Amino acid sequence: MITVVGIGADGWDGLTSQARQAVTEAGVLLGSARQLDLVPESAARKVHWPSPLLPALPGLLAEFGDAGLCVLASGDPMFFGIGSTLARLAGPENLRVMPQPSSLSLACARLGWPVEETTVVSLVGRPLDALRRAVLPGSRLLVLTADASGPARVAGLLREHGYGASVMHVLSDLGSAAESHLTGTAAAWEREGSALSVVAVECAADKGTAPRPLVPGLPDDAFEHDGQLTKREVRAVSVARLAPLPGELLWDVGAGAGSIAIEWMRTHPTCRAIAVESDPERAARIGRNAAALGVPALRIVTGRAPEALEGLPAPDAVFVGGGATRPGLLETCWRALPPGGRLVANAVTLESESVLTTWYGTHGGDLVRLSVSRAGPVGGFTAWRTMMPVTIWTATKESGA
Ligand SMILES: C[S@@+](CC[C@H](N)C(=O)[O-])C[C@H]1O[C@@H](n2cnc3c(N)ncnc32)[C@H](O)[C@@H]1O
Repeated sequence: MITVVGIGADGWDGLTSQARQAVTEAGVLLGSARQLDLVPESAARKVHWPSPLLPALPGLLAEFGDAGLCVLASGDPMFFGIGSTLARLAGPENLRVMPQPSSLSLACARLGWPVEETTVVSLVGRPLDALRRAVLPGSRLLVLTADASGPARVAGLLREHGYGASVMHVLSDLGSAAESHLTGTAAAWEREGSALSVVAVECAADKGTAPRPLVPGLPDDAFEHDGQLTKREVRAVSVARLAPLPGELLWDVGAGAGSIAIEWMRTHPTCRAIAVESDPERAARIGRNAAALGVPALRIVTGRAPEALEGLPAPDAVFVGGGATRPGLLETCWRALPPGGRLVANAVTLESESVLTTWYGTHGGDLVRLSVSRAGPVGGFTAWRTMMPVTIWTATKESGA
């Protein structure tokens, strides 16, 4: 059994009697130098975290796992902490976790914010652009930053994203004697913070900023594109049919501007996607769109399917937006899906439509045809402009198919 004790900036004084007993009775104490200094001397051997930590963890567990190991972690070990990694490596049944309030709980306590109404974004080891997905008018964000430049970088992103009016609270060194709380607007924020800060943001859009909700079907001009874009009405239907679930992986084959993969990922922070695009210029554009719309973790493969699909991790759903007529493409996508996996393919040309009709005949599912007309000015009047109809084949793989 491995014990994980959360310890706050108030150190030993803040620990429960149960946590103190676990530390006192430990055979080995593992933690950062700062955390190890917070607990009194005992018979325990004190071992400092090596750097880098992650690759060393399995070895440390093998060496000390049966020696009365007690791991010291900051705040709540299960909140963006070492506890989650240990649960994955050693199994939750082999862990006894004793949490302290997390920096997030302390921040909400200081601000009077209900924790459950906040959105948490960690920028530790993640690109700043990930914040954009969460920036919505009226939302309250709690941003974990990696260093003293964090608050100024968050403010810079908010200004650039059209949210300079947002109020920022930078709460530093929570729970310690040096605790501080600075408030200001993102528009005027320039100060550096402490290395240990939580940035709380009351998001407010500037005049003229169009909010980008998370429901699929963003306006077409939310994406940089060269015309190869699944238009918003068809895109909303296509993503709904792909039916994203938390943690699932999408292949967006023939990704164009990347809009399907991007909207898939925006539905949930744990949704993942791989965009496969044969045109290098478009592939570069997909990267820019993913960053601008807050999903910089989108993986982009520049290459021609089906060859480019080889070796990719198995998807939960596949969208085919281009290349359906290429020999072996649909076969490769279908084969890669697990039972319950969804395949959605769109066709505009008669050639690709006939491929989808054949697949519909052999694999079932459903075939729909969407014809969208948008009203626009004609002279001094308004008239319908009908876009090319799109045929959408959707199928769910049964086991053994
Ligand atoms: C209609 S666009 C897709 C639009 C995309 N769903 C979007 O909303 O941005 C089709 C794309 O498929 C790409 N494509 C066509 N055949 C391909 C293949 N075999 N492998 C990879 N990409 C392909 C084309 O370069 C083009 O960018």
